[in-house]
Amino acid sequence: MIRFSLVKSGNRSKPEQRPSGAQSGEIMASSGHKVVLITGCSSGIGLRIAVTLARDEKKRYHVIATMRDLKKKDKLVEAAGDVFGKTLTLLPLDVCSDESVQTCINSVKDRHIDILINNAGVGLLGPLESISIEDMKRVFETNFFGVVRMIKEVMPDMKKRRSGHIVVMSSVMGLQGVVFNDVYTASKFAMEGFCESMAVQLMKFNVRVSMIEPGPVHTEFETKMMDDVAKMEYPGADADTVRYFKDVYLPSSIDIFEAMGQTPEDVAKCTKKVIESSSPRFRNLTNSLYTPIVALKYADETGGLSVNTFYNLLFNFGPLMHITMSILKCLTCSCLRRRTISPN
Ligand SMILES: NC(=O)c1ccc[n+]([C@@H]2O[C@H](COP(=O)([O-])OP(=O)(O)OC[C@H]3O[C@@H](n4cnc5c(N)ncnc54)[C@H](OP(=O)(O)O)[C@@H]3O)[C@@H](O)[C@H]2O)c1
Repeated sequence: MIRFSLVKSGNRSKPEQRPSGAQSGEIMASSGHKVVLITGCSSGIGLRIAVTLARDEKKRYHVIATMRDLKKKDKLVEAAGDVFGKTLTLLPLDVCSDESVQTCINSVKDRHIDILINNAGVGLLGPLESISIEDMKRVFETNFFGVVRMIKEVMPDMKKRRSGHIVVMSSVMGLQGVVFNDVYTASKFAMEGFCESMAVQLMKFNVRVSMIEPGPVHTEFETKMMDDVAKMEYPGADADTVRYFKDVYLPSSIDIFEAMGQTPEDVAKCTKKVIESSSPRFRNLTNSLYTPIVALKYADETGGLSVNTFYNLLFNFGPLMHITMSILKCLTCSCLRRRTISPN
């Protein structure tokens, strides 16, 4: 029997924390439940994965949904409905804080986590000249070191048990650079390289690693980035660059989101499929419309094909970009679409 309880004494936990949603301070999960810990569940994809798993018809999971600010729990609690406090528990966790990560993991009974889903992430968009190094470091602190911190804390117990699954919410931008998303893309590339390396060692310990690679998803991520962009003044960027960003890139980006965006539910269903697979894949694109884009990179190892195609799509076709994507999709060999995991 797996039990979630408060850690009373004797280990690194300080200060004690009570899982929200626990009845009498202790959550019991019946035998056979897999313990899933998810980061960044206050909104978007993390919230939806937490609810999808906690509401599993066969009740196979006990979800520890974490967020850095428990004051933001209402949306999750409402979406979870009657499973809150049963198959779904809440804990505070800031992936940028060593202490918060350790306290959270120590407050799980026996530190036993079967599946870790690293979902928390932040975006950053705009001309490089107008972004401070501090803001860039903040993105890496969350998207890269946040995941590394979580894996470092959870991995030793998984290795000891010779079982576990580490899932990372990467992005298509972890595989293909996207103009004006330079630093965000770099943080996801870093994550891909890190996980590709870790996966080999961890396989020896029967611990699996999987990347989930969505294209655009309609969440607060998109809204937050657009709000940030609206406030931007682009200090240091020349007029041409600002014009390309505002008048060429942004309209295309909005167009792509509208034409190709998935829902958080789609991504949650794909993630559930990945963790339920008997031999989970390492890479999992969730949006088949993006397979041609990724394929460009593998079709020409010099990189010329993808760089030139993106240049032409952005500067020569602009608003027609999504139509071009559809044509590309038709032109691409169907065998390449095996890279995609379908939500259905
Ligand atoms: N939306 C997309 O188009 C898209 C596409 C591909 C990949 N992704 C990836 O999907 C993941 C989830 O994004 P989303 O679209 O669901 O966006 P979202 O709705 O903005 O959710 C991001 C979550 O991460 C949390 N978070 C940020 N910094 C954190 C920290 N230091 N510690 C703990 N939690 C933190 C946020 O918490 P607060 O509420 O406290 O800020 C929020 O719960 C991200 O890794 C993102 O890179 C998104």
